[in-house]
Amino acid sequence: MNSSVVVGLQWGDEGKGKVSYLLSRGADAVVRFQGGANAGHTVVLDGRRLKFNILPAGSASGARPVIGAGCIVDVERLEGELSMLQSIGVQARPLISRFAGVVLSLHKDLDGSLEALRGKAIGTTRMGIGPAYADKCLRIGLRVGDLSRKAVLAEKLRLIGKFHNLPTGEDFERLSEAGGRLAQFVGDTTSYLVGLLKGGGRVVFEGAQGALLDLDYGTYPYVTSSHTLAGAASIGSGVPHTMLGDVVGVMKAYTTRVGGGPFPTEIDGGLAEIIRSSGAEYGTTTGRPRRVGWLDIPALRYACMLNGVSWLAVTKLDVLSNIDEVKVCVRYLCDGVEYESLAGLEDLSGARPVYEVFKGWRADASEWSEAVKGGWDMLPSNAREYLGFVEKMLGVGIGLVSVGEPVGYEVFKEDRYA
Ligand code: IMO
Ligand code: MG
Repeated sequence: MNSSVVVGLQWGDEGKGKVSYLLSRGADAVVRFQGGANAGHTVVLDGRRLKFNILPAGSASGARPVIGAGCIVDVERLEGELSMLQSIGVQARPLISRFAGVVLSLHKDLDGSLEALRGKAIGTTRMGIGPAYADKCLRIGLRVGDLSRKAVLAEKLRLIGKFHNLPTGEDFERLSEAGGRLAQFVGDTTSYLVGLLKGGGRVVFEGAQGALLDLDYGTYPYVTSSHTLAGAASIGSGVPHTMLGDVVGVMKAYTTRVGGGPFPTEIDGGLAEIIRSSGAEYGTTTGRPRRVGWLDIPALRYACMLNGVSWLAVTKLDVLSNIDEVKVCVRYLCDGVEYESLAGLEDLSGARPVYEVFKGWRADASEWSEAVKGGWDMLPSNAREYLGFVEKMLGVGIGLVSVGEPVGYEVFKEDRYA
C-alpha cells in the first residue's frame, strides 16, 4: 500500500513532525488519528518555525490534512492552525471526521483538578485530553458532527455539565459559531481515505506521543489517554489495517521525557543541562524543561515490536556532538534478573540500566551541513558506528537521520526511503 504510518518510539517529542513533513511531500493526504492538542509537532521551513498541535505537521507540504475519529479536537487551535497554513501559502481544505471528539473548557479544568488529587502528578499537558476521552467512553462526549446542530449541541453540553457538575455556559456560543465555520470541512474520513488508497493515492498517518505513552502498553498510569501505536492508525482514521503500509519508527538519538513516570536512563547534572540546552529540550506545547537521558535499547526493542517498525528515522544526532562518551543502555538489571526488552517488566522503577560506552563525535554546524550535502558516508565515523549499533541491537534498519531542526538537515540512507 502506498501509505506510511509515522509513530514515536519513545515518550514523545521524537521529531515526528519533521519526519511526517518529509514523507508527506507529494502525498495526497496526511492524517492525525489519535490524541489532540497535547501533541506539539514542529516543522522548520524556510526559516519559519511552524508549530502544530492538532493539524498534522505534514500538511505544511500541501498534503490535505485529515483529522480522524480517534482524535480530540480543540476547535480554537484548529482554526488558528488553518490560518497559520494560509500564512505560508497553503490553502488547506481539511477533512475532519464527524466522529472526532471535541474538548471543552471544563475538560482542561478537570485535567488540572485531577492532577491535584493524585499523589504523584502525571504532568499532563492540561489540554483536557484525558477527561475528553473519558466522556467519549461514557458515551456523553461531544463530537465534531454535533457542532453544527444547535439543539444537539445544547443538549449535550447540558448533560456533560450536569455529569461533571461544572458550568459549560461559555462553550455554547463559541462552539456553535466555530461549528458553523467548520461545517464545510466535516465529513467521512473512511470513504475519502479508502478511495484515495484504492485509486493509487499516497497517505501519511502522523502519530502523536510515543509507544511508551500508550494507554495500555506504556508506563501506566504515566501515559496519555489514547493508543499511540501504529495499529491505532487504522481504528483512529477508519481505514482497514490491511491498507496501512510501512511503519516508520521515529526515535531521538537519546531519550527525553516530559512529565512524571519512570525513566531508567535519565541523567542529571551538567551533562543533562548541556544536552537539554543544545537540543532545546523544552516542551512545544507547555514550555516545560524535558527530562533527558541516554538511549534505551530495551525500551526501543519493545516499541519496535509493538509497532512492527519497518524502518527507523533517527533525529537530533547532532545534539550529541562534542560529548566525549556517549552511553547506550543495552539491558536492565532488575532484582538480579536481566531484561533485554521492556516487555514483561511490569514495574520499571527498579530497573537499573547496564550501559555500553561509545566514543563521541566532534562536529560543528558547518561540518554537519557538509555531511548533509555529502550523504550517509559523510556522517562522522563514530556517529555511523553508533547508528550501526542501534540497527544491530534493534534488528531494524535506519532509513533516515536528521541532524538539525530545519528541513534540509537530514540524510536518507537510500532513495527508496525518501
Ligand atoms: P508529541 O506528539 C511528549 C505526556 C505529558 C504527560 C502525559 C499525559 O509532541 O510527541 P496528556 O496531556 O496527554 O494527558 O499527558 O503524556 N505527553 C507528551 N509528551 N510529547 C507529546 O506529544 C505528549 N503528549 C502527551 O507530558 O506526561
Ligand atoms: Mg511534543
